[in-house]
Amino acid sequence: MNIVLFGAPGAGKGTQAKELIQKYEIPQISTGDILRAAIANKTPLGLEAKKLMDEGKLVSDDIVNGLVEARLQEDDCKKGFILDGFPRTVAQAEELDKILAKSNREIEKVIALEVSDEEIIERITGRRVSKKTGKIYHIKYNPPVDENPEDLEQRADDNEETVKKRLAVYNEQTAPVLDFYKKQNKVYSVDGAKKLEEITKDIIDILEK
Ligand code: AP5
Ligand code: ZN
Repeated sequence: MNIVLFGAPGAGKGTQAKELIQKYEIPQISTGDILRAAIANKTPLGLEAKKLMDEGKLVSDDIVNGLVEARLQEDDCKKGFILDGFPRTVAQAEELDKILAKSNREIEKVIALEVSDEEIIERITGRRVSKKTGKIYHIKYNPPVDENPEDLEQRADDNEETVKKRLAVYNEQTAPVLDFYKKQNKVYSVDGAKKLEEITKDIIDILEK
């Protein structure tokens, strides 16, 4: 099962990916998480990416394509994978097709989570992530349980000003990726404003069709 979870910042890609990887026992590949790990480890890549991410801009296609190509070669991706936050430009989508073709693979379905801009701003400003477990919470919609408050952090790019920039980047550079996949008849839209569990159910219905 080779799928892409697609959607604007805060649409719920990471939240849904966590549910699906448990059910299907395939890995989640989040380019945002890979880049944040590089920042935490202060690698040269992390230092370069941090400035762009803090400004809500995209990291270069060459860098993320390289990261994803390496990750997709790992053994655990053989029985499938869930891409989260990649591809984010048409150039990345084209490159992904080429990378997968080298091992006779292809993207099967693109699940597009649809959420309004107002809801997105509320979701992102209320998001908290556990440093320990990586679990994603929301102060109102999905409050942390059994977590030490000191372990909860807010992402550097989760403020209203940067979210608005990220949304503009999404509309300009990322939304066209949907048309790329629509031409391949691979897009399935899901109402991302529903409750978390209902969305998971809708996605599973699509994956098992
Ligand atoms: P990335 O980490 O991918 O961020 P993003 O796309 O902006 O998406 P988010 O992680 O903010 O949102 P999400 O959809 O995962 O939502 P979540 O489930 O957490 O990228 C960050 C940056 O890295 C980019 O800006 C760019 O600079 C760089 N980057 C990454 N990939 C790149 C690429 N391919 N190319 C170039 N640059 C790249 O949920 C959000 C909140 O909502 C949470 O609080 C959650 O609890 C809550 N929530 C979720 N579902 C629901 C629900 N159904 N109801 C109520 N609340 C909900
Ligand atoms: Zn995410």
